[in-house]
Amino acid sequence: MSDPDTHLTPNDGSGKRVMHRVLVWDLPTRVFHWLLVLLVVLAFVTAEMGGTVMQYHMWNGGGILVLVLFRVLWGFLGGTPSRFATFMRGPRKVFGYARSLLGKGHESYLGHNPMGAWSIVAMLTTLLIQAGTGLFANDDILTEGPLFHLVSKDTSDWLTRIHLINQNILIGLVAIHIGAIVFYWVVKRENLILPMITGHKKWHEAVDSVGGSPVKALLLAATLAVVVYFVIY
Ligand code: HEM
Ligand code: HEM
Repeated sequence: MSDPDTHLTPNDGSGKRVMHRVLVWDLPTRVFHWLLVLLVVLAFVTAEMGGTVMQYHMWNGGGILVLVLFRVLWGFLGGTPSRFATFMRGPRKVFGYARSLLGKGHESYLGHNPMGAWSIVAMLTTLLIQAGTGLFANDDILTEGPLFHLVSKDTSDWLTRIHLINQNILIGLVAIHIGAIVFYWVVKRENLILPMITGHKKWHEAVDSVGGSPVKALLLAATLAVVVYFVIY
Protein backbone atom coordinates (compact mmCIF):
# COMPACT_ATOMS: atom_id res chain seq x y z
CA MET A 1 0.00 0.00 0.00
CA SER A 2 1.27 3.51 -0.68
CA ASP A 3 1.98 5.94 2.12
CA PRO A 4 -1.15 8.14 2.06
CA ASP A 5 1.04 11.10 2.95
CA THR A 6 3.52 10.76 0.12
CA HIS A 7 2.99 11.43 -3.56
CA LEU A 8 3.99 8.18 -5.33
CA THR A 9 1.62 7.34 -8.20
CA PRO A 10 -0.01 10.39 -9.83
CA ASN A 11 -2.31 8.46 -12.16
CA ASP A 12 -5.11 5.90 -12.09
CA GLY A 13 -3.40 3.34 -14.31
CA SER A 14 -4.99 4.66 -17.51
CA GLY A 15 -2.25 7.27 -17.81
CA LYS A 16 -4.70 10.04 -16.93
CA ARG A 17 -3.92 12.21 -13.90
CA VAL A 18 -6.64 11.97 -11.27
CA MET A 19 -6.35 14.75 -8.72
CA HIS A 20 -8.41 15.34 -5.59
CA ARG A 21 -8.93 18.48 -3.55
CA VAL A 22 -7.67 17.59 -0.09
CA LEU A 23 -7.64 19.68 3.08
CA VAL A 24 -4.09 20.27 4.24
CA TRP A 25 -3.99 23.36 6.52
CA ASP A 26 -7.06 23.85 8.69
CA LEU A 27 -8.31 27.39 9.36
CA PRO A 28 -6.60 27.75 12.78
CA THR A 29 -3.22 26.74 11.30
CA ARG A 30 -3.60 29.28 8.49
CA VAL A 31 -4.72 32.09 10.80
CA PHE A 32 -1.81 31.21 13.10
CA HIS A 33 0.67 31.42 10.23
CA TRP A 34 -0.38 34.76 8.77
CA LEU A 35 -0.83 36.38 12.19
CA LEU A 36 2.65 35.16 13.12
CA VAL A 37 4.14 36.70 9.96
CA LEU A 38 2.43 40.01 10.77
CA LEU A 39 3.53 40.06 14.43
CA VAL A 40 7.14 39.02 13.68
CA VAL A 41 7.43 41.86 11.14
CA LEU A 42 5.94 44.25 13.71
CA ALA A 43 8.40 42.98 16.36
CA PHE A 44 11.32 44.11 14.20
CA VAL A 45 9.65 47.38 13.20
CA THR A 46 8.84 48.33 16.82
CA ALA A 47 12.33 47.27 18.04
CA GLU A 48 13.86 49.42 15.30
CA MET A 49 11.74 52.44 16.31
CA GLY A 50 12.70 52.05 19.99
CA GLY A 51 11.86 54.70 22.61
CA THR A 52 8.27 54.66 23.83
CA VAL A 53 7.30 52.30 20.96
CA MET A 54 9.10 49.54 22.96
CA GLN A 55 5.89 49.21 24.99
CA TYR A 56 4.15 48.05 21.79
CA HIS A 57 7.17 45.82 21.08
CA MET A 58 6.57 44.03 24.38
CA TRP A 59 2.79 43.62 23.89
CA ASN A 60 3.43 42.44 20.37
CA GLY A 61 6.03 39.96 21.70
CA GLY A 62 3.45 38.67 24.20
CA GLY A 63 1.16 38.05 21.21
CA ILE A 64 3.92 36.04 19.51
CA LEU A 65 4.39 34.02 22.69
CA VAL A 66 0.67 33.16 22.71
CA LEU A 67 0.77 32.21 19.03
CA VAL A 68 3.80 29.94 19.39
CA LEU A 69 2.43 28.20 22.51
CA PHE A 70 -0.84 27.76 20.61
CA ARG A 71 0.97 26.16 17.66
CA VAL A 72 2.86 23.75 19.93
CA LEU A 73 -0.41 22.55 21.50
CA TRP A 74 -2.15 22.57 18.11
CA GLY A 75 0.56 20.12 17.05
CA PHE A 76 -1.17 17.63 19.35
CA LEU A 77 -4.81 18.78 19.17
CA GLY A 78 -5.14 20.18 15.64
CA GLY A 79 -6.04 18.74 12.25
CA THR A 80 -4.17 15.64 11.03
CA PRO A 81 -1.61 17.39 8.75
CA SER A 82 -0.87 19.99 11.48
CA ARG A 83 0.08 17.35 14.06
CA PHE A 84 3.75 16.79 14.86
CA ALA A 85 3.10 13.03 14.79
CA THR A 86 2.07 13.38 11.13
CA PHE A 87 4.98 15.43 9.82
CA MET A 88 8.00 14.83 12.08
CA ARG A 89 10.30 12.25 10.55
CA GLY A 90 13.73 10.83 11.40
CA PRO A 91 17.13 11.43 9.73
CA ARG A 92 16.73 8.60 7.18
CA LYS A 93 13.61 10.24 5.70
CA VAL A 94 15.26 13.68 5.85
CA PHE A 95 18.35 12.52 3.90
CA GLY A 96 16.23 10.47 1.50
CA TYR A 97 14.10 13.53 0.83
CA ALA A 98 17.15 15.80 0.41
CA ARG A 99 18.57 13.32 -2.15
CA SER A 100 15.24 13.27 -4.02
CA LEU A 101 15.41 17.08 -4.35
CA LEU A 102 18.59 16.78 -6.42
CA GLY A 103 16.73 14.79 -9.06
CA LYS A 104 14.24 16.10 -11.61
CA GLY A 105 11.18 14.98 -9.72
CA HIS A 106 11.04 14.78 -5.94
CA GLU A 107 8.98 13.11 -3.25
CA SER A 108 5.96 15.31 -2.59
CA TYR A 109 4.28 15.42 0.80
CA LEU A 110 0.73 16.45 1.51
CA GLY A 111 1.81 18.44 4.60
CA HIS A 112 5.30 19.54 5.62
CA ASN A 113 8.12 17.60 3.96
CA PRO A 114 10.74 16.01 6.30
CA MET A 115 13.23 18.88 5.87
CA GLY A 116 10.59 21.61 6.17
CA ALA A 117 9.31 19.96 9.35
CA TRP A 118 12.66 20.44 11.10
CA SER A 119 12.98 24.02 9.88
CA ILE A 120 9.56 24.74 11.37
CA VAL A 121 10.56 23.23 14.72
CA ALA A 122 13.72 25.39 14.57
CA MET A 123 11.65 28.54 13.88
CA LEU A 124 9.18 27.81 16.69
CA THR A 125 12.04 27.10 19.14
CA THR A 126 13.88 30.28 18.12
CA LEU A 127 10.68 32.32 18.51
CA LEU A 128 10.12 30.84 21.99
CA ILE A 129 13.69 31.76 23.00
CA GLN A 130 13.22 35.26 21.54
CA ALA A 131 9.95 35.92 23.35
CA GLY A 132 11.15 34.19 26.55
CA THR A 133 14.38 36.21 26.82
CA GLY A 134 12.51 39.43 25.93
CA LEU A 135 10.42 39.08 29.09
CA PHE A 136 13.58 39.60 31.20
CA ALA A 137 15.46 41.99 28.89
CA ASN A 138 16.36 45.65 29.49
CA ASP A 139 17.89 48.41 27.36
CA ASP A 140 19.72 50.25 30.17
CA ILE A 141 17.56 53.33 29.51
CA LEU A 142 13.78 53.13 29.88
CA THR A 143 12.66 49.68 28.73
CA GLU A 144 12.46 46.69 31.02
CA GLY A 145 10.74 43.43 30.13
CA PRO A 146 7.71 42.67 32.34
CA LEU A 147 9.60 39.95 34.28
CA PHE A 148 12.83 41.98 34.65
CA HIS A 149 12.22 42.33 38.41
CA LEU A 150 12.45 38.52 38.88
CA VAL A 151 16.16 38.35 37.96
CA SER A 152 19.38 40.21 38.82
CA LYS A 153 20.62 42.98 36.51
CA ASP A 154 23.50 40.71 35.40
CA THR A 155 21.10 37.91 34.46
CA SER A 156 18.86 40.40 32.65
CA ASP A 157 21.88 41.73 30.70
CA TRP A 158 22.84 38.17 29.77
CA LEU A 159 19.29 37.38 28.59
CA THR A 160 19.23 40.69 26.69
CA ARG A 161 22.41 39.62 24.86
CA ILE A 162 20.72 36.34 23.90
CA HIS A 163 17.65 38.33 22.77
CA LEU A 164 19.88 40.46 20.53
CA ILE A 165 21.93 37.52 19.15
CA ASN A 166 18.92 35.25 18.66
CA GLN A 167 17.17 37.84 16.46
CA ASN A 168 19.86 37.10 13.82
CA ILE A 169 19.22 33.36 14.02
CA LEU A 170 15.51 34.09 13.54
CA ILE A 171 16.23 36.31 10.53
CA GLY A 172 18.42 33.53 9.07
CA LEU A 173 15.74 30.87 9.53
CA VAL A 174 13.02 33.09 8.03
CA ALA A 175 15.30 33.83 5.06
CA ILE A 176 15.84 30.07 4.52
CA HIS A 177 12.06 29.51 4.92
CA ILE A 178 11.15 32.09 2.28
CA GLY A 179 14.06 30.97 0.07
CA ALA A 180 12.76 27.38 0.23
CA ILE A 181 9.25 28.47 -0.77
CA VAL A 182 10.64 30.42 -3.75
CA PHE A 183 12.81 27.38 -4.67
CA TYR A 184 9.74 25.09 -4.77
CA TRP A 185 7.84 27.61 -6.83
CA VAL A 186 10.55 28.42 -9.37
CA VAL A 187 12.57 25.20 -9.60
CA LYS A 188 10.11 22.49 -8.58
CA ARG A 189 7.01 24.21 -9.96
CA GLU A 190 5.13 23.59 -6.73
CA ASN A 191 3.11 26.44 -5.23
CA LEU A 192 3.10 25.94 -1.45
CA ILE A 193 1.67 29.39 -0.70
CA LEU A 194 -1.82 28.76 -2.13
CA PRO A 195 -2.61 25.89 0.30
CA MET A 196 -1.49 28.14 3.19
CA ILE A 197 -4.21 30.58 1.99
CA THR A 198 -7.05 28.30 0.84
CA GLY A 199 -6.26 25.33 3.08
CA HIS A 200 -6.50 22.86 0.18
CA LYS A 201 -4.06 21.08 -2.08
CA LYS A 202 -4.56 19.09 -5.30
CA TRP A 203 -3.51 15.56 -4.38
CA HIS A 204 -3.25 12.28 -6.29
CA GLU A 205 -5.55 10.37 -3.95
CA ALA A 206 -8.58 11.17 -1.83
CA VAL A 207 -7.08 11.39 1.65
CA ASP A 208 -9.52 11.69 4.53
CA SER A 209 -7.70 14.59 6.15
CA VAL A 210 -9.45 15.91 9.26
CA GLY A 211 -9.19 19.61 10.14
CA GLY A 212 -9.14 20.88 13.74
CA SER A 213 -12.21 22.66 15.09
CA PRO A 214 -11.99 26.50 14.93
CA VAL A 215 -14.04 26.71 18.16
CA LYS A 216 -11.55 24.48 19.97
CA ALA A 217 -8.72 26.61 18.55
CA LEU A 218 -10.37 29.84 19.68
CA LEU A 219 -10.87 28.50 23.21
CA LEU A 220 -7.28 27.30 23.33
CA ALA A 221 -5.88 30.61 22.07
CA ALA A 222 -8.10 32.62 24.46
CA THR A 223 -7.00 30.46 27.42
CA LEU A 224 -3.35 30.89 26.50
CA ALA A 225 -3.81 34.65 26.10
CA VAL A 226 -5.31 34.90 29.60
CA VAL A 227 -2.57 32.68 31.12
CA VAL A 228 0.24 34.65 29.42
CA TYR A 229 -1.34 37.95 30.46
CA PHE A 230 -1.64 36.94 34.14
CA VAL A 231 1.78 35.28 34.32
CA ILE A 232 3.50 38.28 32.75
CA TYR A 233 1.61 41.29 34.10
C1 HEM B 1 9.73 36.94 18.80
C2 HEM B 1 9.48 38.11 19.26
C3 HEM B 1 10.52 39.21 19.37
C4 HEM B 1 11.39 39.71 18.44
C5 HEM B 1 11.59 39.29 17.01
C6 HEM B 1 12.15 40.76 19.11
C7 HEM B 1 13.16 41.51 18.51
C8 HEM B 1 13.90 42.46 19.16
C9 HEM B 1 14.98 43.20 18.57
C10 HEM B 1 15.40 43.09 17.11
C11 HEM B 1 15.49 44.01 19.53
C12 HEM B 1 16.71 44.93 19.37
C13 HEM B 1 16.42 46.38 19.31
C14 HEM B 1 17.72 47.11 19.22
O1 HEM B 1 18.31 47.11 18.14
O2 HEM B 1 18.16 47.63 20.23
C15 HEM B 1 14.73 43.82 20.74
C16 HEM B 1 14.93 44.46 21.91
C17 HEM B 1 14.16 44.29 23.05
N1 HEM B 1 13.08 43.46 23.18
FE1 HEM B 1 12.40 42.16 21.80
N2 HEM B 1 11.71 40.87 20.40
C18 HEM B 1 10.71 39.94 20.60
C19 HEM B 1 9.98 39.72 21.73
C20 HEM B 1 10.09 40.46 22.89
C21 HEM B 1 9.27 40.30 24.07
C22 HEM B 1 8.17 39.25 24.26
C23 HEM B 1 9.69 41.22 24.96
C24 HEM B 1 9.14 41.50 26.34
C25 HEM B 1 7.89 41.35 26.67
C26 HEM B 1 10.79 41.95 24.37
C27 HEM B 1 11.51 42.94 24.99
C28 HEM B 1 12.58 43.59 24.46
C29 HEM B 1 13.39 44.56 25.19
C30 HEM B 1 13.18 44.98 26.65
C31 HEM B 1 14.39 44.99 24.30
C32 HEM B 1 15.46 46.03 24.57
C33 HEM B 1 16.81 45.40 24.65
C34 HEM B 1 17.89 46.35 24.13
O3 HEM B 1 17.62 47.09 23.19
O4 HEM B 1 18.99 46.30 24.67
N3 HEM B 1 11.01 41.46 23.09
N4 HEM B 1 13.77 42.86 20.48
C1 HEM C 1 8.16 36.25 9.62
C2 HEM C 1 8.10 35.41 8.65
C3 HEM C 1 7.61 33.98 8.72
C4 HEM C 1 7.57 33.09 9.74
C5 HEM C 1 8.06 33.29 11.18
C6 HEM C 1 6.96 31.87 9.24
C7 HEM C 1 6.74 30.73 9.97
C8 HEM C 1 6.14 29.58 9.50
C9 HEM C 1 5.78 28.44 10.30
C10 HEM C 1 5.99 28.34 11.81
C11 HEM C 1 5.22 27.53 9.47
C12 HEM C 1 4.61 26.21 9.89
C13 HEM C 1 3.12 26.33 9.79
C14 HEM C 1 2.41 25.32 10.64
O1 HEM C 1 2.60 24.11 10.50
O2 HEM C 1 1.66 25.76 11.53
C15 HEM C 1 5.25 28.07 8.14
C16 HEM C 1 4.79 27.41 7.01
C17 HEM C 1 4.68 28.02 5.79
N1 HEM C 1 4.98 29.32 5.48
FE1 HEM C 1 5.81 30.67 6.68
N2 HEM C 1 6.64 32.06 7.92
C18 HEM C 1 7.02 33.33 7.57
C19 HEM C 1 6.85 33.94 6.36
C20 HEM C 1 6.28 33.36 5.28
C21 HEM C 1 6.04 34.01 4.01
C22 HEM C 1 6.40 35.48 3.70
C23 HEM C 1 5.45 33.09 3.20
C24 HEM C 1 4.98 33.22 1.79
C25 HEM C 1 5.58 33.92 0.89
C26 HEM C 1 5.32 31.87 3.95
C27 HEM C 1 4.77 30.72 3.47
C28 HEM C 1 4.66 29.55 4.17
C29 HEM C 1 4.16 28.31 3.58
C30 HEM C 1 3.71 28.12 2.16
C31 HEM C 1 4.18 27.36 4.59
C32 HEM C 1 3.80 25.88 4.45
C33 HEM C 1 5.03 25.16 3.96
C34 HEM C 1 4.73 23.71 3.62
O3 HEM C 1 3.89 23.47 2.75
O4 HEM C 1 5.36 22.82 4.23
N3 HEM C 1 5.83 32.07 5.21
N4 HEM C 1 5.80 29.32 8.19
